[in-house]
Amino acid sequence: MSRRHVSNAGKVVVHHGDAIEQAANMAPGRAQLVYLDPPFFSGKLRRNRAGGPAYEDRWPGGMAEYLAFLRRLIGAAKPLLAPTGVIALHLDWRASHHGRLELEQAFGHESFVNEIIWAYKTGGAGKRFLARKHDTICVYAAGATWKFHPQREKSYLAHRYGFSNIEIHQDERGPYTWANMRDVWEIPALRGNQREAAGYPTQKPLALMTRIIECFSDPGDLVVDLCCGSGSTLVAAAQCGRNAIGVDASADAVAMARQRLNETRTPTRRP
Ligand SMILES: C[S@@+](CC[C@H](N)C(=O)[O-])C[C@H]1O[C@@H](n2cnc3c(N)ncnc32)[C@H](O)[C@@H]1O
Repeated sequence: MSRRHVSNAGKVVVHHGDAIEQAANMAPGRAQLVYLDPPFFSGKLRRNRAGGPAYEDRWPGGMAEYLAFLRRLIGAAKPLLAPTGVIALHLDWRASHHGRLELEQAFGHESFVNEIIWAYKTGGAGKRFLARKHDTICVYAAGATWKFHPQREKSYLAHRYGFSNIEIHQDERGPYTWANMRDVWEIPALRGNQREAAGYPTQKPLALMTRIIECFSDPGDLVVDLCCGSGSTLVAAAQCGRNAIGVDASADAVAMARQRLNETRTPTRRP
């Protein structure tokens, strides 16, 4: 079942169902960005804020079963890409290395675009290892050229002297210059008390999704998220003037995504 949401910005459709089956029904070659944020092989039943089940991330067949799912998901996503489109696969330490190999198999080594590290600070740490506080988003291209919009970030300086030919700015953290954005992104993870937090487990921040969308697509392009959960990608896409299609196997997730989209009335593009 699907329903269409038209905000002032992008048109968004959310389908309830299996990613692979739904992708097979979509027109091929249209998506500028396919973002995949599947279960991470956590071995857990993921629960929503109220404690109810949100989605299953347990794999009785172990890594082999999980990788078979990942392979089918990537295989279903690939035909959706426009010739200048990219796929972005979001995983963490449990399976990101496998995920990258799967992408390499499907797209080829020469199609590699970026391995983005999303670094965050959340509670909890192991006693026998460093706190595992980053996810990995691997980006591969459908063709030899792809859309990419370079982004800028603040680069803080230890001191001001010695820099004669660059413009130095100042904010509350100190002096900085504008530099080309790197592939390591410090973006805070969502906290439960934030307005944006819908109560869905593993919900991604809009700031992260907006940055990915702005890097790899233009206004009016189509963004597809085959495991859309609470709809973060879809909301960010609508706010950035992109059209979007979301799919999720969880009825709760789909209801939440639609609710969030209904609340997304005004485009709030970053300057
Ligand atoms: C990591 S969560 C996505 C979170 C989402 N990015 C957000 O910000 O809310 C993974 C999602 O994949 C969905 N999922 C798992 N297996 C699926 C399948 N075969 N087809 C479609 N969705 C699936 C789950 O229901 C879950 O919502």
